[in-house]
Parts: sequence; structure tokens; C-alpha cells
Amino acid sequence: MYLISMKEAIENKKLFTLDHHDALMPYLRRINSTNTKTYASRTLLLLQNDGTLKPLAIELSLPHPQGDHHGAVSKVFTPAENGVEGSVWQLAKAYAAVNDSGYHQLVSHWLDTHAVIEPFVIATNRQLSVLHPIYKLLHPHFRDTMNINALARQILINAGGVLENTVFPAKYAMEMSAVIYKNWVFTEQALPADLLKRGVAEPDASQPHGIKLLIEDYPYAVDGLEIWAAIETWVKEYCSFYYPRDHLIQGDNELQSWWEELRNVGHGDKRDEPWWPEMQTRAELVQTCTIIIWVASALHAAVNFGQYPYAGYLPNRPTVSRRFMPEPGTPEYAELEKNPDLAFLKTITAQLQTLLGVSLIEILSRHSTDEVYLGQRDTPEWTLDNEPLAAFERFGNRLLEIENRILEMNNDKRWKNRVGAVKVPYTLLYPNTSDYSREGGLTGKGIPNSVSI
Ligand SMILES: [Fe+2]
Repeated sequence: MYLISMKEAIENKKLFTLDHHDALMPYLRRINSTNTKTYASRTLLLLQNDGTLKPLAIELSLPHPQGDHHGAVSKVFTPAENGVEGSVWQLAKAYAAVNDSGYHQLVSHWLDTHAVIEPFVIATNRQLSVLHPIYKLLHPHFRDTMNINALARQILINAGGVLENTVFPAKYAMEMSAVIYKNWVFTEQALPADLLKRGVAEPDASQPHGIKLLIEDYPYAVDGLEIWAAIETWVKEYCSFYYPRDHLIQGDNELQSWWEELRNVGHGDKRDEPWWPEMQTRAELVQTCTIIIWVASALHAAVNFGQYPYAGYLPNRPTVSRRFMPEPGTPEYAELEKNPDLAFLKTITAQLQTLLGVSLIEILSRHSTDEVYLGQRDTPEWTLDNEPLAAFERFGNRLLEIENRILEMNNDKRWKNRVGAVKVPYTLLYPNTSDYSREGGLTGKGIPNSVSI
């Protein structure tokens, strides 16, 4: 076995962390005063020579009983295969998964797609005429979003609703996502910017997308960059037809009112942020519309439709923990030694919550029978302008090429992360532009135009 030192691993950019510590620490005392008993976790991962990630350690932290100025109380767990150490490692992974599933549902899914897109839907409908070219560009990407968000407020994210009952922050779920919104930056929602910010890519002008992935075999990023570039090209060609010069953007009163309302009312909590595009140039319009379309289509598809396929078996992906890691010398530790499966099941999500949670993600992971995928429009007569129609056809053809490329890569044994140990190919960003069957269902693939489930 080839061993490298920690220093070498850091210098060679082989170490990554899955860090939920700071997002959770402020609530942990309150969360642990409910039936939930959990930690804030950090997972350290090593990028191995075969391109896969291996967990090296999991740090589990609790607030200090004598106050936060003493720092956190943290314990570090390392991999073990057998005996009670193996059972302890299984539990450590379960606590990390509990953190990750809550963060995924409340932040990656609800906040970063459903919630942030809503102000764009409202401002577009209030400020742009249905004949406005930007209305025509964005309208397909807003289909059913207000509906599903209204339904979510009635039964999912409401006080005492399904989410509070199935993911670990319980009644602090909405508070957590609202506080994390304070760190939301519109321009960082662009995929290349997001990958750079998360430290999984670095700038590299020689690469096709201007960035180099530090994890080369990272299916979400690899497929995502292709989709991102296809959307960007389409938006650029479309906007160039209607706005050949920047002054046309500056002088478009509807467009300026749209942006004014979006910044000052829709995302009004963030009205004074310095990073908002000023909407004075075509480049800013293209950047803005590309981000909106990316978030509503591909980003949502990537975090939504894999929920049942990847997280539908709760022992592998628990959503709640009900007791802490057993300490040596306690009856719980003796139980863990004697019957580790029973101890594990007593720790993770309870039976009724499991049934409720699995039912929810099964529904959320289904494509509807009237799904309209990226590169498709539900009405062919959406515009009579030939150049935009030709650009849209090129966009669709590019997406078909991406479909083939994804299938080829999934069958290529060089890419270990695309199928994983259980041989489930990564198809969450397979656009499914070629599918007009309208069958829908639990397909685990396809990028609908809009956030609609
Ligand atoms: Fe969703």
C-alpha cells in the first residue's frame, strides 16, 4: 500500500471535508432538548489514486456544557471494520449522514432551489409583459413552482408539518434554512462559481469551462458543466438577438422594473448586497438568466430526483438520531457490543418517521406524466422569430449529445464514481430531452424545465 503523509495530501489537494459544523452548532443545544440527540459533524475524506473518496475520520461535536466560550466538545472517530470499534464507526457514519440529510433537504433542496426561485417567478409575472422576450425565455422555467411551494407551506415545511417530523432539526428546521439564506449569494449559484467556492475546482484557462476539477471523476460537476455551458450558449444567442447593444438593456423599462422589484422587494433582505448584477449590459442579462434557468432546471433535478434512489433505504441514510454515541462502561455500550444491529436501529430514525419520510421522498422523486424537459417547450408557437427558434433547436441538439456522452461515460469502467459499489449509474443530470413519452415516474433521470415537485 502507498502511504502518504497528511502534509503531502494537503499539498497535493487530496483532502476534502464535508463540513456541517458551523451550520448546526448554533441550534444544537435547542435541537438536543427535543427527542433528537445528535452532533455537528465534520467528515474528512481522502481522494485516492483510483479517483474515489475514502473517509479518514469523522469529528462529532457538542456545545460545551459550561458555555460556548469554552469551545465545542469534540470527538474524532476513525474507520474500523470489526468488533465494537466497527459498530462505533457505523454509528459515527450514521450521525454524519443525519447531518447531511437534514442539510440536503432544508438548504440544498428547499432553500437553494424552491425558495430562492420564487421571487423571480413573482417579479417576472408582475413586471414583464407576456410578449416580452425575457418573459418568453424564463416562463417555461417557472411552471408549477408557485403551486408546489404553496403546497409545501401547507403540509411540508409548516410548523408541525412533515419536515419537522422527519428530519433532525425538528422545529428549528425553518429557522436554520432562513439563517443560512443570509449567506446566499446570487452570483455564486452559477455552477463554475459554486465549484470554485466549495474548493472542488480551481481556475484554469486551458480547460473548456475555465476551471479544473480537483476531483476529476465527479459526475455532478462533469455533467453539470456540460449542461451549464449549453444553457449559457442558448441564453447568449437568444439575448443577442433581442439586445444587440447594451443601451437597449439600459433603456428597456420593463426589464429595469423587473430587476428593481427582484432586488428590492423579492430578495429585499439582500437589497444592499454588492454582488447583484447591475443589469446594464448584455453580459449581466445573460449571466442572470443562465443562473435562473440552471437553478430552476438542472440544480433542482440533481438534488430532487435522486432522493428516493439514493436515500430511500434509511439504515444507509438515516434522517434522525435519537441517542448519543454510547460511552464505554454504560449499558448502551454493552448493548452495542452484544447486539450492534439493535443498538443501531434504536439510534436512527424511528419506524413511523421512517415510513413517513420514505413516502415523502418517493413522491418527491417522481416525474409527472406531463413533464417538460430541458430543451423542450410545451407550445411550439412560443415565438415566430426564426433566429431564436434556430438557437433553441441547437440547444436541444446539444442536450441530446450530452445524453449520449453521459451514457458512454457511465459504461466506461475508468470512471468509478459514476456507478459506485452497487452499480447504480449517475443519471440525475441526464437531460432526457429525447423523451416525449410523458410516462413520468421514478426514473432517476431527467431535467425538467422547472421546480414543480
Ligand atoms: Fe423539489
